[in-house]
Amino acid sequence: MEPFRFHFFVCTQQKQEGVPSCPASGSLEVLDLLHREIQARGLNHDVQLTSCGCMGLCDEGPVMVVHPTGIWYRRVQPSDVSEIVGAHLRDGRPVDRLVWNDAPAMKAMAVEHGEKFRAAMAARDKAGTLPDHLDQMIRSYWPSRCILTALELDIFTAVGDGANAEQIGTKIHANARAVRMLLNALVALGLLAKSGDVYSNTAESARFFVQGSKDNHRNGLLHIANIWHRWSTLTDTVRRGTRIPIDRDDNPEWTRDFIAAMQRGAKERAGQVVKALGTAGVRRILDLGGGSGAYSIAFAEACPGALCEILDLPEVVPLTAEYVSRAGVSAQVSLRAGDMLRDDFGSGYDIVMLNAICHMFSEEQNQDIFRRVHRALAPNGRLVVQDFILNPDKTGPQHAALFSLNMLVATAAGASYSELEYIQWMKATGFTEVSRINLPGPSDLIVGRVK
Ligand SMILES: C[S@@+](CC[C@H](N)C(=O)[O-])C[C@H]1O[C@@H](n2cnc3c(N)ncnc32)[C@H](O)[C@@H]1O
Ligand code: FES
Repeated sequence: MEPFRFHFFVCTQQKQEGVPSCPASGSLEVLDLLHREIQARGLNHDVQLTSCGCMGLCDEGPVMVVHPTGIWYRRVQPSDVSEIVGAHLRDGRPVDRLVWNDAPAMKAMAVEHGEKFRAAMAARDKAGTLPDHLDQMIRSYWPSRCILTALELDIFTAVGDGANAEQIGTKIHANARAVRMLLNALVALGLLAKSGDVYSNTAESARFFVQGSKDNHRNGLLHIANIWHRWSTLTDTVRRGTRIPIDRDDNPEWTRDFIAAMQRGAKERAGQVVKALGTAGVRRILDLGGGSGAYSIAFAEACPGALCEILDLPEVVPLTAEYVSRAGVSAQVSLRAGDMLRDDFGSGYDIVMLNAICHMFSEEQNQDIFRRVHRALAPNGRLVVQDFILNPDKTGPQHAALFSLNMLVATAAGASYSELEYIQWMKATGFTEVSRINLPGPSDLIVGRVK
């Protein structure tokens, strides 16, 4: 059975540099163009396009196969895409000049490839070679560090519409030789292009990393660069058991970057949270540690009768005010500078939100907050915790387990917690009907109700 008229498989198996593979022959670009062309011709309901692993024909890449009839293509180039989509996927006529129909030769090649692969694996295993996946995981900070340094130096903005290493070095006040090496590495990572000695931004870099672009994410991403310095203390932190002060801690720029980073994720999730909680009967909301205000803004927009109050640290509230004012909801969203670990929360709220908050604090601090939230809620009101929630044995999901270390290096006593821990804390502090709501993405909700 084939639910689509055509099911198009494109090999995108990544292999070590220097080893023949479909991506090395351009299959990722072909796949991207196929997506666009299928969409442009309105064929996406007829054609299922799927990237797949190695088919054992790597020397003839990019290799692809179209089912249900099993038409194989090899050495497909970006310039062939329009013809394949028009002739084959729209008109049902395969492009003969690209079709590979020598089944015995294909089978022999794939079988030989499989045998060679297994023999090479066995030889490496016998020699005690470090497996590729471990080697890659260990070195995976190289590309990351490259991009973070480029963002810190604002290289993508300096590249602008095209410049050489000397011009870029002068703009960012950096050494031309070192800048050239970094630029070349960024080209190797696919984040810049190079023609002669002139570097230019790719479409993605220009869109996401260049100041002035509508979708510029640089500020939010700089938070990851800032946190890098904290992660570098991980070894000593694990020895000592507690966060180690570093000389960059009090940089006010970090706060702006941090809130920009929070806004990036929160803006995406806020609509889902509002939908999951619903707006019926919601009149007053308290958003503890609201940061950029993304969740209050989403509630205010979805529920014009609701009033939201954001409590955050004094140094953050002016930044929150900028986001709230830009969203045009200042009449519904008020701001309070304070400390949620000490302040009285007030009373009569229908919802109190703790979005990405509990991981900053210890078990005792969270229970103390929950207790005070309980007193601040109106009858039938809800406490909503959104966080990266660990499995019972705390070894996954991977993001939540790694995020726990992020909190180990960045906070005095924070961590990721499990669903069971949140449920126990809520029950111990008087909440009933405690339940979990799964959201798309890495964070979920735990909701408890006041009787
Ligand atoms: C991880 S961010 C989450 C921001 C926002 N809730 C979101 O999900 O986008 C944590 C927020 O809590 C605030 N915060 C940290 N400690 C606080 C405290 N003791 N009192 C009030 N706010 C605090 C931070 O300033 C920051 O805005
Ligand atoms: S990498 Fe594509 S067939 Fe092997």
